[in-house]
Amino acid sequence: MEEFVLGVDLGTSAVKVSAVNKSGQIIAQQSCSYPLSHPQIGFSEQDPNDWVQGTTTAIQQLLEHGHIQAEQIAGISFSGQMHGLVLLDQNQQVLRPAILWDDTRTTIQCQEIKQKMGNDFVKITHNQPLEGFTLPKLLWVQENEPDIWQKVKTFLLPKDYVRFCMTGKLATDFSDATGTVMIDIQQKNWSSAICQAFDIPLSICPSLLFAHNLAGYISDKYAHLSGLKTKTPVFAGAADNAASALGAGILDTNTILASIGTSGVVLKYEPESHTNYQGILQFEDHAFDQGYYSMGVTLAAGDSLNWFKKNFFPQQSFNDMVQSANQAPIGAHGLIYTPYLVGERAPYADAQIRGSFIGLDRSQTRTDFVRAVLEGIVFSLKDLMQIYIENNSPFTQVIATGGGAKSPLWLQIQADIFNKPVIRLANEQTASLGAAMTAAVGLGWYSDFQDCRKTFVKIKDTYLPNSVNVKPYQQLYQIYHQVYSQTQQLSADLIKFRQQNNL
Ligand code: XUL
Repeated sequence: MEEFVLGVDLGTSAVKVSAVNKSGQIIAQQSCSYPLSHPQIGFSEQDPNDWVQGTTTAIQQLLEHGHIQAEQIAGISFSGQMHGLVLLDQNQQVLRPAILWDDTRTTIQCQEIKQKMGNDFVKITHNQPLEGFTLPKLLWVQENEPDIWQKVKTFLLPKDYVRFCMTGKLATDFSDATGTVMIDIQQKNWSSAICQAFDIPLSICPSLLFAHNLAGYISDKYAHLSGLKTKTPVFAGAADNAASALGAGILDTNTILASIGTSGVVLKYEPESHTNYQGILQFEDHAFDQGYYSMGVTLAAGDSLNWFKKNFFPQQSFNDMVQSANQAPIGAHGLIYTPYLVGERAPYADAQIRGSFIGLDRSQTRTDFVRAVLEGIVFSLKDLMQIYIENNSPFTQVIATGGGAKSPLWLQIQADIFNKPVIRLANEQTASLGAAMTAAVGLGWYSDFQDCRKTFVKIKDTYLPNSVNVKPYQQLYQIYHQVYSQTQQLSADLIKFRQQNNL
């Protein structure tokens, strides 16, 4: 009987469940989407029970249509959207909708953290307090919803809540825990200094596991619901970016990851705990227990393209829309797009910045707009790569994953703008693969992640920079790079205008 592991990739728009065999091939996959709600400007929430229902539906469909028997599933693990705050009461019931990673309501709380702890905070966590992270969300609930805060017994991150509903066990893993900015990076534990400073009882912090550690077993109740076997081992799993880094084989410093999902991420393996980018880049525990990673996040990368398609190309397929950018020249006849639809996290930590199209011209057509969006997203990743260059942290190649690795045109745009070889993997679903790797190593199928990577991670092809395109893109990047500072005040004024007029 062939055995599989299930990788549950709990994203922002959908959950994907993949059955992966010992050779690292995805044999069957099902996904289920769920709603996202934006009750006010800057708010972004989901119902944690939608994640559980979606995961259960995807598992049921996998068992029904995937030609897989529940007995063949040797273990289950996770890749989860990061930072989202799930609050449980003493009966382990969800107290309010989860506040997500792209929610920017917590600017005041971030300022409070800075005022109270100053640089000590950066020393402990190697991060700045930014709106997306979990600690400011906890403080927001403490200050704005005291009745709910009083009832809080435990907080969890998104994938941990789904795991809890499967096993009845409360825990998180280090890679997701660092994303709360409540972990002391050197001590590898919840920071009592931070918890004390903000009156957060240490008792609400879940226990900490490594990504490949066993977290529990499928409970009778969940087995009944999903069709899985009772006692199937369930592993801790990792934050989506850590899982993606595993699934892309980012376990050395030479190769960086450029991932375009809902958010866009530039990520680098960091072997040393003392590396500190002073919070300009995030610094997190890797899923791989021996190291760390740094990363910069552009909040609306793939999300920009989704927004654009939904509003302006609703009838066309995604592929056709992206392909149409081939009809526009480099630089889209002088049209630049900045992807700050929901504010930005890095390199500008600014919840009030908003996106723009600059350089509208009568000669432009719809295809120029598509090309400008594709290019603008890549320029925002280039902004993040510049930080490594400025910090003397070199790299020679880039692995592209997610939506950005699906189109040959977009891959070539990346190679030309980054001016580095851009590698496409045989399996670009790196988060699902990384989740499966944590189960494969946890089960002992492989002695460690380096060993597992040899089988699981394969290169498909490499896009080299085209020297004819590199120079114009360098010139265009110089202009793109100025748009932030030139539109910062305008964006803030427009937000104020909307708030004053309730628009
Ligand atoms: C990382 C981040 C996003 C989410 C997306 O800090 O906020 O990449 O993890 O799921």
